Amino acid sequence: MKRDYPNLCKPIQIGNVTFRNRMCSAPLGATDILPDGTPGPRTLGWYESRARGGAAAVTVSELVVHPETDGSQMLRLSLATPGQLGAFTYVADAIKRHGAVASIELSHSGQYAGTYMVDKKKKDELCQYGPSDGVRPDGMKVKALTKEQIDDIVAAYADAATLAKRAGFQMVMVHCGHGWLINQFLSPWFNKRDDEYGGPLENRVRFAREVLSAIREAVGPQFPIELRMSGSELFDGGYDLDEGCRIAKALEDLVNIIHVSAGSYQFGFSITHPSMFREHGCNVYLAEEIKKHVSIPVATVGGLSDAAQMEEIVASGKADIVVMGRGLIADPEIPNKVMANRGDEIIKCLRCFVCMAERPVTQTRRCAVNPRVGREFEGMSVAPAGYSKKVLVVGGGIAGLVAARTAALRGHDVTLCEMGSELGGILRTEQALPFKLDMYNLGVTYALLCERAGVDIRLNTKVDAAFADEFGADAVIVAVGSEARTLPMPFDEAARVLSIDDLYLGGEEPGDEVVIIGGGLTGCECALQLAREGKKAHLFEIRDGLAIDANIRNRPILLAEIEDANVDVHVSTVTEQIDANKIVFSDADGQHELPFDSIVCAVGQRSRAADVEELRDAAPFVRIVGDAVRPANITTAVYEAFHAALDI
Ligand SMILES: Cc1cc2nc3c(=O)[nH]c(=O)nc-3n(C[C@H](O)[C@H](O)[C@H](O)COP(=O)(O)O)c2cc1C
Repeated sequence: MKRDYPNLCKPIQIGNVTFRNRMCSAPLGATDILPDGTPGPRTLGWYESRARGGAAAVTVSELVVHPETDGSQMLRLSLATPGQLGAFTYVADAIKRHGAVASIELSHSGQYAGTYMVDKKKKDELCQYGPSDGVRPDGMKVKALTKEQIDDIVAAYADAATLAKRAGFQMVMVHCGHGWLINQFLSPWFNKRDDEYGGPLENRVRFAREVLSAIREAVGPQFPIELRMSGSELFDGGYDLDEGCRIAKALEDLVNIIHVSAGSYQFGFSITHPSMFREHGCNVYLAEEIKKHVSIPVATVGGLSDAAQMEEIVASGKADIVVMGRGLIADPEIPNKVMANRGDEIIKCLRCFVCMAERPVTQTRRCAVNPRVGREFEGMSVAPAGYSKKVLVVGGGIAGLVAARTAALRGHDVTLCEMGSELGGILRTEQALPFKLDMYNLGVTYALLCERAGVDIRLNTKVDAAFADEFGADAVIVAVGSEARTLPMPFDEAARVLSIDDLYLGGEEPGDEVVIIGGGLTGCECALQLAREGKKAHLFEIRDGLAIDANIRNRPILLAEIEDANVDVHVSTVTEQIDANKIVFSDADGQHELPFDSIVCAVGQRSRAADVEELRDAAPFVRIVGDAVRPANITTAVYEAFHAALDI
């Protein structure tokens, strides 16, 4: 067979294992971890899904090697805890039985121990150890590790690697990046020691060399070791790419892959985990440069999931291996799709951070576009239905598309009716926002997937009770979505008031001075884009904060972008009056006026309640999903739609 992406599909030998292709799964911490540090069943399923999806190697993260100095409460592996080795062995099995290489990440958080903990109060009970004495930005004291402690930690890395190998892992990844302990030693910003571990680079790499040498000694010469590093720390005072190259060179003799990420978790979360505001593959240049200085395979990571882009990276020799994190949460089947020339069917990560935001809030993992995340225990497959039913899906937004495709995959006879002339629903507006293009494309991809699954798609078709009666479906899924709320206050008819649709889909030109009323996620993104286009964007919100509906990871990143773009923000502000060309508003300082060219109304959505009521008795099985239930977000719409289709 002729492969569309031949370079991505080519195997590569790493130590004594063969990667079946060039696409690997990044370490992605699971949340089903028992209190003693043992992986639970959902954790096993979490990693297994990516092995089944065709990844060459799946790295289990993040094994705490030295709990005495690192209280990050993640996975632990010790023979002292009964059953622990067995639990890890089953996880390694679950990866290997699908043909992937099972790897495990060995890690120490150093002075940022406890960062992950859900109960932040417990941080106070932990010891925080780093290369040097100091105080963390959050006020926590940091103690410099003694030589004895360093020796102990080095030995602990070797012990962990030995046990991991015994459990059947075929490779280890050593985390030397993102600002964790080994990175802290490498970094001139963190490492202020004046002994043999501090000062010039040859001293700062000493700890890493000791750790890697001890692991090598423990696992033998052929066992693959992957070094994960930040190619550049990318903050003032941290090491740069030049030094990143020298670090890679100083360590390459001890490892088999150099895996180049970027940044430092504490100083640039949106760099270690490239946000939607950064380009796809934003770290490739780091791997490309480091590759010029070393003679072992180099991997790149960060915002990757597009097959053509990944093929180009490998084909052009910028990196030998591409690693995906969130891409494989959104669609664990990416490698299988690439191998099968179905690159256009990849469901791409939105980089919305739902995956990371859920853990601190609910101690779970979710994904906006992959409703199977969290179902690792219940079953992740879409089982065929007992017999085929006639299914009518009403609405061609993301909820309708997901429901229709899932029902069709189960063998049902599915018709999807959309009253407009295009599929995608509310996602269509996202095409106007460069940073939300992936969200727009989600609708495009799902339309293709529906077509390929055999869904009968009827555009410009409004479904009412009479239509449904005539149609005679066994099951109706009501995914009619929501519509924009209008301005909740009177305004002069001469004022130019635009909806988000007018602006994004209608091509309306808003003028130079634009007032956006409503500082939720939609209003914030609108103001940001207008400001980036050179308009003066004035953002008004009655509540005391912006984007309160955004998740806790995405929100600070969005707010920083808004600040950088110089959006004129007014929170805790009441709009009193809208005249033809000026707005009157009041805040804690009194009443003010502001002239404008146009007003964009972003005050939220309301369910299409009348359409829902019309269809409540449309079939023996009726399920209402997504915004039609209550305006929420993609995560909810996709989740409800998928499960509605499973219930038919
Ligand atoms: C849910 C989640 C959990 C993660 N857990 C870890 C981890 O335990 N160890 C680690 O080194 N990186 C971890 N990362 C970072 C990823 O390995 C990866 O470097 C990052 O997500 C950027 O790659 P991406 O843009 O392909 O997602 C995690 C990322 C996510 C999204």
